[in-house]
Amino acid sequence: MSFRLNGFVFFLFYSLLCLASCHAGLHKPTPKEVVLAQRKWTDADLRSLTAGQVLYTTHCGKCHTLYKADAFSEDSWLDCLPEMSHKAHISHDEQILVRRFILTRRTYVLEKKSNREQ
Ligand code: HEC
Repeated sequence: MSFRLNGFVFFLFYSLLCLASCHAGLHKPTPKEVVLAQRKWTDADLRSLTAGQVLYTTHCGKCHTLYKADAFSEDSWLDCLPEMSHKAHISHDEQILVRRFILTRRTYVLEKKSNREQ
């Protein structure tokens, strides 16, 4: 296979990989998100954010698509989470993990978008 074709195949492969991992709740929280989370909750860490992400992806996409964190305002998330957590049969403590994950991801995505526009 020529070098150019190889390059193209890699390009395709990584594009597909990105498409898959850029989906709503799929990618794991990053250390940058830990920094964001700790602005609000001093006890936030990578483990608890990741736990929230796992709960979100495993429990919140059963009845509808996994909504993107920035698809709703912070207030809308706070409004719907108690009812949705009940529907998803997750505990109060688990709901807090999901809430922290989703609100942090929301801020992260919005800040990234606004940086890109500058
Ligand atoms: C048993 C099914 C079910 C599960 C599980 C579920 N949802 Fe829902 N969700 C619904 C239904 C039905 C609606 C729309 C009507 C309503 O608000 O009850 C909805 C609506 C929503 C909305 C508002 C959508 C809009 O367009 O306004 C959000 C956000 C949401 N769910 C998030 C979640 C999250 C987060 C979880 C996990 C904690 C979750 N859902 C788990 C059934 C479910």
